[in-house]
Amino acid sequence: MLAGKRASESATEMVQVVLPNDANALGFILGGTVMHLIDIAGAIACHRHTRTLLVTAAVDDLQFLHSIKVGDLIILKARVTCVFRTSLEVQVDVFSEETLTGRRQLTSRAYLTFVAVAADGHRVPVPPLIVETEEERRVCEEAQARRARRLQRKAEATTLPSA
Ligand SMILES: CC(C)(COP(=O)(O)OP(=O)(O)OC[C@H]1O[C@@H](n2cnc3c(N)ncnc32)[C@H](O)[C@@H]1OP(=O)(O)O)[C@@H](O)C(=O)NCCC(=O)NCCS
Repeated sequence: MLAGKRASESATEMVQVVLPNDANALGFILGGTVMHLIDIAGAIACHRHTRTLLVTAAVDDLQFLHSIKVGDLIILKARVTCVFRTSLEVQVDVFSEETLTGRRQLTSRAYLTFVAVAADGHRVPVPPLIVETEEERRVCEEAQARRARRLQRKAEATTLPSA
């Protein structure tokens, strides 16, 4: 039996400055760069929870609510929401922060699912998540509902004709 862990034990915050190399012609960070950082932040939180190798199984739909400009900080906060058998869901919130004013805006919220694997690729069980508060229970219940919808979409996708 694996020992349980609290979400606070794996919660991860990443901060970096947006540089010209990350930006499009308008001076805003590229969506693909944000997606890459979301994947990294989510993976770090899940690695801290599982201490295993992981693969990204799914990234739910993603919105870019505000642009983040060169010179701003991009902040990513990742927190495990719920753990299943060999997979787990993590929420990643993305914020912009103006360096001179400190003004912060939520720019994206993403849910990712990672699957724990051994070096030979077979799935391995993940440690339980210790859920203590009403809020943590609600977050996990919502994650379970998202998981059901996600697996339904996967089942639909696997029936698509291949090229
Ligand atoms: C993700 C992957 C491991 C799932 O393999 P699979 O054989 O279809 O999955 P299984 O039926 O064995 O399920 C394993 C777990 O993954 C979950 N899972 C599988 N596909 C999923 C999806 N699309 N979304 C969410 N969870 C998924 C299952 O629910 C199961 O979780 P559980 O054990 O907690 O109940 C496999 O499809 C894969 O390797 N995909 C490529 C991953 C990749 O290359 N990612 C990018 C680079 S890391």
